[in-house]
This record gives sequence, C-alpha cells and structure tokens, in this order.
Amino acid sequence: MDIQRKRALVTGGAGLIGSHIVDLLLQEDWQVRILDNLEPQTHKHGKPAWINPKAEFLLGNVQDYETMRSALTDIDVVFHEAAYGGYMPEMAKYVLVNSFGTAQMLEIIRDQKFPIQKVVVASSQAVYSEGAAQCAIHGHVVPLLRPAEQLRAGDFQVQCPQCDRPTTSIPTPEGTPGGGETVYALTKVDQERLVLLWGKQTGIPTVALRYSCTYGPRQSLFNPYTGVIAIFCTRLLNGQPPVMYEDGGQTRDLCFVEDIARANFLVATTDKLDGLPVNVGSGRATSVRDLADIIAEQLGVTIEPIARGEFRPGEIRSLISDISRIRTIGYEPQVPLEEGIARYIAWIRTQGTVDDYFAKAEIGLREKGIVQNITRSSGTA
Ligand SMILES: NC(=O)c1ccc[n+]([C@@H]2O[C@H](COP(=O)([O-])OP(=O)(O)OC[C@H]3O[C@@H](n4cnc5c(N)ncnc54)[C@H](O)[C@@H]3O)[C@@H](O)[C@H]2O)c1
Ligand SMILES: [Zn+2]
Repeated sequence: MDIQRKRALVTGGAGLIGSHIVDLLLQEDWQVRILDNLEPQTHKHGKPAWINPKAEFLLGNVQDYETMRSALTDIDVVFHEAAYGGYMPEMAKYVLVNSFGTAQMLEIIRDQKFPIQKVVVASSQAVYSEGAAQCAIHGHVVPLLRPAEQLRAGDFQVQCPQCDRPTTSIPTPEGTPGGGETVYALTKVDQERLVLLWGKQTGIPTVALRYSCTYGPRQSLFNPYTGVIAIFCTRLLNGQPPVMYEDGGQTRDLCFVEDIARANFLVATTDKLDGLPVNVGSGRATSVRDLADIIAEQLGVTIEPIARGEFRPGEIRSLISDISRIRTIGYEPQVPLEEGIARYIAWIRTQGTVDDYFAKAEIGLREKGIVQNITRSSGTA
C-alpha cells in the first residue's frame, strides 16, 4: 500500500515564497492546494505563469470565512504565507489581512475540528526592533529603536541603551526582545503570537519562521514598496539610480528564496522546533550600498546609488539573523548572494519590459510621512 501523500495548503502560494514552497512540496510528492487572492499590487497581470499546474489553485481571500473553510478541508499541513507586506501606507488592511486573517483561520481549524497536523506561519525578522548589538562596556545589549529625531538630525548610530555609546551589530537570536516598529511588523508579531498561542491551547504543532529579507525569481517587479533587490533592479534597468535611505550603511540579511522554502519543509517534517519562533536567513550582513553595487555590476551598468538625505521612521539599521536554532535541524543557506542575484536578474530578463514604479510611489510615501527628510545632513552623498 502507498503511504498516504501529505496534503498541504499554501496560502499566498502564488507569491515569491509560497510558490517556491509549492514547487518543493510537489517535488517531495506532497499534494498541494494554493489559496491566493492574486493581490493586484503584487500580481499586476493576474495569475502568474509560474503557478505549478500540479497544484490545486483556489482564488480567494484569507479574510473570507467560507473560502478558508473549504481551503482548509482535507489538509494535513498549513504553510500560511499570505500577507500584506512592505512599507505600504495602509494601516487597516495590514490588520485585516495579516492579523484578522490568521486569527480567523485558526478559529476555523479549531471549530471545524479539522485534523491539521501542523501550522507553519510566515513571520519576519521585522518582529525585532533594532537587532542585537555589542557595546564595548556592556557586552550584548538590545538597543531601542532609533528615535525619528535622531535620524532627522542625520545621526544613524545605534546606541547602547545603558551608556549611549555606539554599538556594533551582532546576529540576533530568537530570544531577543522586540515588538515590531512598523504597522506591518506589528501584524507579523500578531500572526506569530496568535499561531504559537493557539498551538499551545489546541495541542496542534506550530512553528513561526522569522524570515530575513527574501529575494529571488518571482519576486514582484510591480511592487514599489517591498523587496530592496527588486526595487534596485527595476530602477537600474530604467537607467535610474537606486535610492538609499539614511547613508546606505544599513545592513540586511538577504536570503535566497529556495533556502527559505527548504526551511519551511524542514520545520514541517520534524517536531524538534514545534512551538517555537525560528529565524531563517543567510546569517550574513550586506550593506544596502554594497547591494546596489553588486546589482549594478551584474546588470553591467555603472549607475551609482544615491542617498538624498531621507530616512524612514522605524527603519532598522542592522538586522542579521542568528540561525543557530534552525541549523540544529540541518538547515544551511546554500545560495550565496552573488549567485542568487544572478539568478534573479536572469529571471527578470525573461519578464519583458520592466517599469520603474518606485518613482510614482515615492511621492505618496513622502506625503504620508513614511519617508522623511534629514534636516542636518551628516555628509551623505
Ligand atoms: N519577502 C520577504 O523578504 C519576507 C520577509 C519576511 C517575511 N515575509 C513573509 O513571507 C510571506 C510571503 O511573502 P512573499 O515575499 O512571498 O510575498 P508575496 O507578496 O510575493 O506573496 C504573498 C502572496 O499572498 C497573496 N495574498 C496577499 N493578500 C492575500 C489575501 N488577503 N488573501 C489571499 N492571498 C493573499 C498575494 O497575492 C501573494 O501571492 C508573507 O507572510 C510575508 O510577510 C516575507
Ligand atoms: Zn553600553
């Protein structure tokens, strides 16, 4: 007799991370259902061609009770990727899609007594504030978010909470206190707390994966609010310089999407990390400025990035994930940044004309105070 194939629901399965999870699960001979509303901001031309035909595709919204009830029927494992993301100006929509959508999904599973064996939720390293840091005097510290006043004055340093000296960034482990410093981040905190708490109440195994900045083929080229690599690529392909906030010295942990997808598979197929938040990323720091240079070089253009004396309140200066926890189940990032960017660019070249949506979007971001001016420049380019 055949062993029963595992059945997965991947919400947001048309998107960057979800679609790679779908492909991996199918390779592993799982049965896969996708629930995705094809959010127009992300999927400008409707249903993307990469949706694996071997998966069942349900068009629908996580906010809709009946849609979710049918999507969750006859499922063993849920990968909950659907979310509203990025530095978008909306507030209520984040709460509806991310917080409400997750809470309702959990309620449905519980109330319908669906025999779900595990829920893996897409959380984010955005749940931390400034990442963990090292002070020369006080050792490991957890700095507070840099106040907007400090950034406005052109001072981007992350200070020790005890002595105000500048700190250096160190990898951030899961136990680091945080809280979320943007509306998006707050709803990611909601999602992971809801899932982990519900897991304790119901006894259903759960994992919250805190992804670092994820990129790779299929990352939307239409969304000017999210995905620094996608935005820089579209700017450069339109002959425009990438725009850096602050001085471009922010560092990010950039992780190739296939590594993130494999992390999902790993946590779904072991019970070792059940009930926990788990970082997943590359564990490597790259500055925004270096990133712009790497992308320009790979595109074969000589356009320098610009810093125009702007900052985003709530932006984190340096956040590198400590990935020791997920390493204990055999995770290891496999795609180095240069290779991953080359693969993303190769994919972009198959996508036809690429527009610069950022130029239009940034006017709105300024009007709403999401991007603000530095009043006293500290010598930015
Ligand atoms: N990409 C990153 O850097 C990153 C980092 C940390 C966390 N995450 C999280 O990972 C998950 C996947 O992100 P992604 O990068 O693949 O984004 P994405 O935008 O490419 O994919 C999200 C998918 O969810 C769908 N979706 C959005 N709202 C929906 C709704 N109301 N109902 C049904 N479907 C809906 C979209 O159509 C899209 O296909 C999200 O939860 C995101 O918050 C992403
Ligand atoms: Zn100190």
